[in-house]
Amino acid sequence: MNSSLAGHDLGLANDALEIDNAVALLRGGRIVAFPTETVYGLGADAENCQAVQRIFAVKARPQRHPLITHLADTETLDYWVREIPPAARRLAAHFWPGPLTLVLRRSSRVPDLISGGLDTIGIRVPSHPVAKQLLRAFKGGIAAPSANRFGRISPTSAAHVREELGTGPDLILDGGPCQVGVKSTIVSLAGQRPLLLRPGSIGVSALQDVLGEELCPADENDAQLRAPGRLAVHYAPSTPAVLLPSAQLIASQTAYGDDVALLCLEETAAALVGSRCHCQHVANDPPAYGQRLYALLRQLDSGRFRLILIEEPPATEPWQAINDRLRRATSKSSQLDFTERQPTT
Ligand code: TXA
Ligand code: MG
Repeated sequence: MNSSLAGHDLGLANDALEIDNAVALLRGGRIVAFPTETVYGLGADAENCQAVQRIFAVKARPQRHPLITHLADTETLDYWVREIPPAARRLAAHFWPGPLTLVLRRSSRVPDLISGGLDTIGIRVPSHPVAKQLLRAFKGGIAAPSANRFGRISPTSAAHVREELGTGPDLILDGGPCQVGVKSTIVSLAGQRPLLLRPGSIGVSALQDVLGEELCPADENDAQLRAPGRLAVHYAPSTPAVLLPSAQLIASQTAYGDDVALLCLEETAAALVGSRCHCQHVANDPPAYGQRLYALLRQLDSGRFRLILIEEPPATEPWQAINDRLRRATSKSSQLDFTERQPTT
């Protein structure tokens, strides 16, 4: 099967022919990678189990992890969902299309494979113009996890998808670099109280304002809320990466040479002038940082470095999703590894 890189690199919508091609492939049970405003997804017809199986195979993803079903709008929501609570309608009206996934009680039509055997389904209406075009033309639900191998950094460009999955997808639609860069916020409305399953660019206060009630953090050990994005090690670079408070990063980098990379906030860069390490700084602005996060991790994970030291951003709400991703990207390499890697001289 051929993988072709359709479209262009400029972030413009793909032309109608490419969308028609993608729709024909999806209807034929093939899998198509496509851009969303958050990250690129690897999509299949949500009602075709064989096609969905191929997503798991190409990603090397365990089957018990549920997938998000993407829809063009809320018109067909009741096809997928057994019960649409008023809170879901409010959040949908306010944040869709956009980077929010709602976990709701699923209808009997939803294949077990999509829901990972749970009684719920994750639904999202994305805002990226290419995703919208594709979903409107396809007229059904597209099940799509992020288009990376399981546990790896999510792709925010078509080239990243190709790097991650090679000829796995039957087509890669190119919609340019993703604008948000951090995966969707996931809220469960399937239980008694609204739960935050995964922080994302839509913050807790904005959600609570619309909900009119408190959004509780999910219990990390609750098996009913299985979400790989919530595993401690996820979105990880292969190079050991350690998260450090600013002062510790500034103090410890003097011991390293150019085989170590530093990722810091712009305001810290001045303190690192003269460092022998490879220094990369990012704007002190959560949306801008989020947009570049995965691309930067991918770039620093290119094999040139033996260690990546990352400055901890502030512990405030606008940074919550980024801190969450950074913690998960670095949890494989403990502080202990870091200490062991310090030169002894
Ligand atoms: O931004 C995003 O959400 C991207 C784009 C492509 O839409 N998709 C994405 O998919 O991040 P994925 O599969 O990498 O992560 C989806 C998360 C998983 O952690 C999954 O377990 C959770 O959503 N999820 C999906 N359905 C669920 C359900 N019924 N109950 C609990 N968690 C669910
Ligand atoms: Mg993923």
